[in-house]
Amino acid sequence: MQHPDIAGTSFKKISIPDDPAIQQEPSCQASKLSALDSAAVPGYLRDTYYWAYLDPRNVKRLDHEWIVRTILWQQHRRLEAAAFAEIEPGQRVMQAACVYGSFSASLAAHIGPAGALEVFDVAEVQVLNCRRKLAGFEQAAVWQENVLNLRNGSFDVVVCYFLMHEIPDELKYELVDALSSNVGTGGKIIFVDYHKPHWAHPLKPVTSLVFDKLEPYAKGLWEQDIAEFAQPDNGLHWHKETYFGRLYQKVVATRHA
Ligand SMILES: C[S@@+](CC[C@H](N)C(=O)[O-])C[C@H]1O[C@@H](n2cnc3c(N)ncnc32)[C@H](O)[C@@H]1O
Repeated sequence: MQHPDIAGTSFKKISIPDDPAIQQEPSCQASKLSALDSAAVPGYLRDTYYWAYLDPRNVKRLDHEWIVRTILWQQHRRLEAAAFAEIEPGQRVMQAACVYGSFSASLAAHIGPAGALEVFDVAEVQVLNCRRKLAGFEQAAVWQENVLNLRNGSFDVVVCYFLMHEIPDELKYELVDALSSNVGTGGKIIFVDYHKPHWAHPLKPVTSLVFDKLEPYAKGLWEQDIAEFAQPDNGLHWHKETYFGRLYQKVVATRHA
């Protein structure tokens, strides 16, 4: 699938659906990164999330639906359904970054053959892996691109599923700005992500510990609403719902101008 509608961007096409990059096991981090096109990988991703998203061995190990469900305390299906409830069959959808498990395939099935799903991820290993998972869906395409650089697309919907908490706060502003530029009037940006839990939530202490050790940018979403990362007067109407004792949120920004 060609993507002609995002101005000023050129997408790196990945032509090997059966991913050799996932098979390889280079012996040191530098060689792993060169194999993964290190120039394209943002510093926060390389430094903080190498083990989770760039190490080809771990991509294979972690990309399972049961792992996503476990990490999200069995709320993944509910959150995915909440996101899909905002999307209609036949719509043109941008997915900002790959997601482990069957999220993209379920989304492609949800929009159906009359729809179009375009997934963008900055990491080649993720693009190859996602292409493999979407191989049976004619309506889906996967591109290697930093979503912070994608602007002025013409999607009906942009979905941002658990990406926001992995991005430094200063880039959260850029992310909201970039994603919002890809929908026209009536279009929606759907964020599903972490939220500050109720003070008495039994999982708050362990979540806080995991964030402090492994997810240094996640607490930005405890301190600020996603809407507060948007530019003022940007023509967006914001609606937020929380789930599971406020540990998670869905935020929908609808463009009215
Ligand atoms: C969506 S997030 C996390 C999703 C969720 N935790 C899961 O189960 O997979 C992870 C993905 O974001 C991608 N990513 C991070 N920053 C990005 C950026 N600026 N542009 C495109 N992809 C990005 C990473 O390469 C990775 O594949």
